[in-house]
Amino acid sequence: VTPSILALRNRKVILGVSGSIAAYKSLEILRLLIGEGAKVHVVMSTNATKFITPLTFETLSGNPVYHQVFDSNSSLSMEHIRVAELADLLLIAPATAGMIGKMANGIADDPLSNLFVSFCGPTIIAPAMNDGMYTNPAVKANIEKMKQRGIEFVEPEYGELACGSVGQGRLAEPRNLLQAVNRRLNIKNDFCGLRVLVTAGPTHEALDPVRYITNPSSGKMGYAVAEAGRDRGAKVILVAAPTGLPDPALVEVVAVKTAQEMCDAVLERVKGADALIMAAAVADYRPTTEADQKIKKASADLTIDLAKTTDILEAATGDFVKVGFSAETQNLVSNAKIKVGSKNLDLIVANDVTDPDSGFGIDTNKVTLIDRDLNVEELPVLTKYEVGHRILDRVSKLLGS
Ligand code: CTP
Repeated sequence: VTPSILALRNRKVILGVSGSIAAYKSLEILRLLIGEGAKVHVVMSTNATKFITPLTFETLSGNPVYHQVFDSNSSLSMEHIRVAELADLLLIAPATAGMIGKMANGIADDPLSNLFVSFCGPTIIAPAMNDGMYTNPAVKANIEKMKQRGIEFVEPEYGELACGSVGQGRLAEPRNLLQAVNRRLNIKNDFCGLRVLVTAGPTHEALDPVRYITNPSSGKMGYAVAEAGRDRGAKVILVAAPTGLPDPALVEVVAVKTAQEMCDAVLERVKGADALIMAAAVADYRPTTEADQKIKKASADLTIDLAKTTDILEAATGDFVKVGFSAETQNLVSNAKIKVGSKNLDLIVANDVTDPDSGFGIDTNKVTLIDRDLNVEELPVLTKYEVGHRILDRVSKLLGS
C-alpha cells in the first residue's frame, strides 16, 4: 500500500498512552510523529506510568508529560487544559478496554481520561487488548458509542498477543497510525455543503423465500467512498444493499435489497445531489418470478427464467457528476471505456476483480480512472478509503469546488 505521507509540520498532536504492554510502541509512534514535523505533547494514564516512565516520553518529545492529576509542584495540571485547547488532534495509542470504557462514559479520573473529556478536536483511538476483551459486547458497545460521536478507531491487528493467545488485539502498526493522523489532519473540507449519493454492496434477487441470486461484492469500496465524502464535509446518503458492514457514523444509510429497490431509492434521492457514485454491484438479471413458497426439489433439472433489471446509472440523469464502477475480468480499459459512453459518465473507476490486490472483500484496491474524454490514469494499490479520496478529488474538480 502506498502511504499518503504528508508533512505534519507544526501540527500539534497529543499522544495519549494508557496502561497496556503495547505502551512501548507509543515511543515509536512519538518518533514517527516528530519525524513528520509534528509538535507532540504526551499524556499518560496513571497505569501507563507503570510500563514506561514519563521521563522517557519527556526526553523524546521535548515537552513536559502530563501524568498526574493532582501534582502540587506542577503547573501542568492546568497546563493540560491549554494543551487540549491548542492541539489539532488527539491520538490515543494504546487504548485499553478500561480506558475505552471510561472515555465512552465521560468518566474523568486520571490524566488521560481527564484530557479526553476536555478535548473537542478530532480524535483517533487505537485499541490494544486481549482478543477476548476486544470481542466483549460491553467493549464493542463502548467503541460503537464513540464512533457514533465521530471518533475514529484504528482497529487492532491479528497476531500473537502478550497473554500468549492469538487473535485480534495487537495495537495497529505505528506506520498505520501515522497514516491515519496524516489523513485526518490533511483532509480538505472541499465537499462542505455538497450532497453526495453513494451506492454499495451486492443486490439480492429472490428466487423464493429462502434463495436469491447475488455476487461476492463486500460493499467495502462504496462504504469507504461514503466515509471519505463525510470526512471532507459532504452530506452523504449511502444506498446500501446487504453487506453486514456497520453503518458509517454521520452518514444517512438507506437499506435496500433488490436492484429495483436500489433503483427507486437512487432515482428519488439523486434529484438534489451534486454527485452520484455507483459502487454497488447491481444484478443485471433477476428471476422473472419469485415463488411464494420454497421451490421443492424435483427429479428433472430446473430452468430459471431471468429478466433484465433496469440499469440505474443509465436511468439516472440530471445536473450532477455521475461516477460509475466497472468490474472486469478481462480487457479492463477497453470494456470500461465503452461504459463511459453507454452510461454517459463523467468518470469510471475500473478494477480487475481477478487481481489479488483488487479482488472482492479485501481492504485494498488497484483501480484505473477513466474520464469522459477517455483519459486513463492507473492508480497504485491503495486502501479503499484512499481510493475513495482519489475519486472525490476528481469529483471535486468536476464540480469546481
Ligand atoms: N450498474 C447499474 N445498474 C445495473 C447494473 C450496473 O447502475 N443494473 C452500475 C454499477 O453500479 C457500476 C456500473 O453500472 O457502477 C457498471 O457495472 P458493471 O457490472 O461493471 O457493468 P454492467 O453495466 O453490468 O455490464 P457488464 O456486466 O456487461 O460488464
